[in-house]
Amino acid sequence: MAPHTPQRSERPGEAEALLDAADLIALEGVGKRYRTASGDVDAVRDVSLRVAEGEFCTIIGPSGCGKSTLLGMLGGLVAPDTGQVLIAGRPVAGPDPRRAATVFQDPGLFPWRSALENIAFGLEIQGVAAARRRAAAHELLGPLGLRAFADKYPRELSGGMRQRVAIGRALAIDAPIILMDEPFGALDEQTRTLMGEWLLDIWRRTGRTVIFVTHSLHEALALSTRVVVMTARPGRIKSVVELPMPYPRAMESPELVTLRAKLWSEIRDESLRAMQP
Ligand SMILES: Nc1ncnc2c1ncn2[C@@H]1O[C@H](COP(=O)(O)OP(=O)(O)OP(=O)(O)O)[C@@H](O)[C@H]1O
Ligand SMILES: [Mg+2]
Repeated sequence: MAPHTPQRSERPGEAEALLDAADLIALEGVGKRYRTASGDVDAVRDVSLRVAEGEFCTIIGPSGCGKSTLLGMLGGLVAPDTGQVLIAGRPVAGPDPRRAATVFQDPGLFPWRSALENIAFGLEIQGVAAARRRAAAHELLGPLGLRAFADKYPRELSGGMRQRVAIGRALAIDAPIILMDEPFGALDEQTRTLMGEWLLDIWRRTGRTVIFVTHSLHEALALSTRVVVMTARPGRIKSVVELPMPYPRAMESPELVTLRAKLWSEIRDESLRAMQP
């Protein structure tokens, strides 16, 4: 996909004036329509959202409502048709690993590279010298729980390990923002729960800003500081739920059980709408 050119607020002063000091990310009335030979798809419409530095913001919504499209806009891979995307007050004008790293649902590891070499890949394309990128990747092996697997190839790793390598590759880049598109979607429930706990630990220790897409309400409630529910396509923001509770969360607490019921009712309605012909 070609990087796009910013649409408005080309002057940094003007863009910065749109942001509160604490906002790292601002989506301002963004919309996206895909034009294809078989017709146009209105994917996202008029989405405005601000995310403060250090938040763990989760986006949930029915399949096809534009979640990956929104992440693509934040990562500079998808150009919005309307509105603008600002990071630290500047319009996003294409992918920039110094700003945001993406973890895609499919880990997309290189089969001919070891776990360590895969983790170091992002640094390699940034031109970091071999010894330095090896050292940086090595440092991540411990927190990733992969110390004994540094020299293994993807085929020798479990699904959860491969996912951790993919997350390690994003963390190695050291971008302040991590965009995660259903990163645990392909994992079994137990591994998923453990990976969630692990991610929470990494997030709290590194102070990154996480934008996380999931279909799991449990995951959303266990991990996020805020959950954004999207409507059926064209995706708009239906509601935003703040989750100020401390971690680890008591998932059976009346507060979370009530929130879960509220979120489920909203998502159920939108998913039914999304399935209508
Ligand atoms: N590159 C593209 N070209 C044409 N249409 C696209 C493209 N990418 C996405 N779409 C369409 O835009 C809509 C939103 O897609 P998107 O992948 O953002 O949804 P999503 O919320 O991530 O869905 P899921 O939960 O299934 O991953 C869908 O109807 C999809 O078919
Ligand atoms: Mg998606």
